[in-house]
Amino acid sequence: MPKRTGGFLACLSASLIVFTGSVVLAMASGADGAGPRQGKGSAKAESTKADSAGKTALPASGTQADQYAGEDTCLVCHEGRAYNGTRHALKALPRSPAATHGCESCHGPGKAHAESGGDTALIVNPAKLTPQQASDTCATCHDRATHTLWKGSQHESRNVGCVNCHSVHDPKGDKQIKAATQPALCATCHRDKVAKLDRSGHMPVREGKMQCSTCHNPHGATNVKLLRKGDSIAELCTSCHADKRGPYLWEHPPSRDGCTTCHDPHGSSNERMLVSKPPIFCQRCHVSTRHPSTIYDAAAIGSGASPSIRVYARSCVTCHSAIHGSNHPSGQRFIR
Ligand code: HEC
Ligand code: HEC
Ligand code: HEC
Ligand code: HEC
Ligand code: HEC
Ligand code: HEC
Ligand code: HEC
Ligand code: HEC
Ligand code: HEC
Ligand code: HEC
Repeated sequence: MPKRTGGFLACLSASLIVFTGSVVLAMASGADGAGPRQGKGSAKAESTKADSAGKTALPASGTQADQYAGEDTCLVCHEGRAYNGTRHALKALPRSPAATHGCESCHGPGKAHAESGGDTALIVNPAKLTPQQASDTCATCHDRATHTLWKGSQHESRNVGCVNCHSVHDPKGDKQIKAATQPALCATCHRDKVAKLDRSGHMPVREGKMQCSTCHNPHGATNVKLLRKGDSIAELCTSCHADKRGPYLWEHPPSRDGCTTCHDPHGSSNERMLVSKPPIFCQRCHVSTRHPSTIYDAAAIGSGASPSIRVYARSCVTCHSAIHGSNHPSGQRFIR
């Protein structure tokens, strides 16, 4: 991705001022071979590429090599900071920190720091950088696949960084997140959305069959609202609920606008996650007094003092059951 590399170089040299120019170059060239996991199909080609690029990540000249102390030296004083048990420690992955510069893949060359007996001015602590600077360090390796859209994404541009959600040294949950579960992590900033999971109508997130990240990519997306799939809300939803995709012979116009006109994707207190309770739900858009009467119902089907006896259980949908749209030749009223 030559176009992006230039951008990264620019921001790296701007942010990681602690590093010398030559080291920045070494790290950035390492990034080419050290991105995160790619699609399964390309795994083989990818690892070959990574192997060859991985070599260029090693210091090119004696001067650079001299600036690294090596992980064993770091651990003499920082025993508790070992990152064993995480994927970063897997030497078998050619692009991992363990297979490259160990601690110094993220903290920068630390020989001077080690020799000074721990001068904090001579080492990078990502926790003390701005979120964006810290993220740039991670992005030297994680700039591909699900992470290509990080720069300029809603989180990045609002100063939320990798280390707000992930902990390299003290992860609490899957994928090294800082909380035991995703809802707990996201709730630190989006409590309102997480609280909706507890409502009666919801998709199986709290049952563990789905995650926030099933629908959202917190690292950036082409769709609105960080949605992982498609180019619209409806495309995300119909990636699972294919039967609602249409096109229909008789289309109910709000379906075209997107499913969230009628459903709250995070949960609601109404059946089927509807944004309000039928019949009022339908009557926000349809004037009930204009409903054709039947032999049982004098004039209107409304929900007022004496609603139609037919508006029970599933309410309007009892009769208008093909509410998303109908393919029946006479389905223009969505009753079949
Ligand atoms: C001789 C002992 C020693 C060695 C070797 C050593 N450190 Fe340190 N390091 C320290 C001390 C002491 C501190 C300051 C701790 C404190 O302030 O709590 C420190 C602090 C740090 C910090 C935090 C800096 C900050 O601004 O808060 C980082 C990150 C760090 N070391 C990384 C490393 C890495 C990476 C290596 C290997 C390249 C390394 N250290 C090698 C002694 C050492
Ligand atoms: C994949 C990147 C990465 C690697 C590899 C890594 N660190 Fe860190 N380190 C961080 C980040 C990020 C922080 C900031 C705190 C946090 O997010 O956990 C940090 C914080 C620290 C601190 C500051 C104390 C603290 O908890 O805030 C020390 C000391 C440290 N690391 C030492 C090490 C040593 C020693 C190694 C190698 C054994 C190492 N790190 C490997 C990313 C890394
Ligand atoms: C030297 C390259 C490198 C750097 C720098 C780096 N990573 Fe990684 N990271 C990797 C590799 C390689 C993997 C393993 C990818 C895989 O599973 O195929 C990985 C995996 C991860 C994972 C997934 C863990 C899991 O359990 O699946 C997270 C989260 C992560 N890194 C976060 C970070 C963060 C945050 C930073 C910056 C503080 C960072 N990384 C810096 C190379 C790096
Ligand atoms: C808003 C919270 C959040 C932020 C910010 C964030 N992540 Fe993540 N990350 C997650 C969650 C949740 C997962 C697990 C779900 C998934 O795979 O997308 C994850 C998964 C990952 C994975 C493993 C799966 C994959 O997509 O490769 C890596 C690697 C990773 N993050 C690295 C990073 C890096 C690097 C940054 C900064 C550039 C970052 N993350 C920023 C929340 C976050
Ligand atoms: C079934 C898919 C789905 C799941 C699961 C999901 N979301 Fe969403 N989310 C959406 C859609 C669609 C939107 C955009 C429509 C909207 O704003 O209501 C959205 C919007 C958002 C927004 C932006 C809202 C705004 O007002 O701009 C946040 C924040 C959010 N979701 C967080 C979460 C969190 C946290 C979780 C996990 C607890 C989660 N989402 C789970 C589909 C989902
Ligand atoms: C450290 C705080 C923080 C955490 C943790 C966090 N977010 Fe966010 N998120 C933000 C901020 C800030 C925004 C931007 C809000 C805005 O622009 O109004 C945002 C925006 C969003 C949006 C809306 C994007 C848009 O287009 O409006 C979604 C969706 C979202 N986050 C999902 C998640 C998910 C899913 C998680 C958990 C994996 C998560 N966030 C964790 C701070 C956070
Ligand atoms: C990753 C797949 C997936 C995506 C994407 C998805 N859903 Fe779902 N949805 C499910 C599953 C699984 C269920 C539970 C089905 C069941 O219980 O039979 C469900 C259930 C529902 C229900 C019925 C809830 C109830 O209380 O009976 C509605 C309504 C719904 N989804 C709407 C949506 C909308 C709107 C979107 C887009 C914002 C969406 N879904 C996106 C998988 C998905
Ligand atoms: C005009 C409002 C409206 C719109 C727009 C809408 N729905 Fe619905 N949806 C409903 C109603 C009402 C029900 C309850 C139907 C019932 O009880 O039989 C429902 C039920 C559902 C169900 C659960 C029952 C079933 O038939 O499987 C799913 C899943 C669902 N909708 C998905 C979607 C998706 C995906 C979209 C966007 C493509 C969407 N809906 C758009 C009104 C709407
Ligand atoms: C967000 C607004 C909205 C909601 C909510 C809504 N509709 Fe509609 N509906 C429309 C629009 C717009 C049309 C097209 C009207 C037209 O063509 O004159 C329509 C058309 C219809 C039609 C066909 C009418 C005709 O003249 O051909 C029926 C029947 C219908 N809706 C029933 C319902 C029912 C039942 C509900 C509740 C489950 C509902 N609608 C919820 C906006 C809505
Ligand atoms: C007892 C069954 C039944 C119930 C309950 C019912 N409808 Fe209808 N509705 C019908 C039938 C049948 C038609 C079609 C009449 C026709 O084709 O001339 C119709 C037609 C409509 C139309 C089109 C009116 C027009 O001008 O042509 C709308 C809009 C509508 N219904 C909305 C609703 C709403 C909103 C509710 C809930 C408050 C509801 N219906 C409840 C049976 C029902």
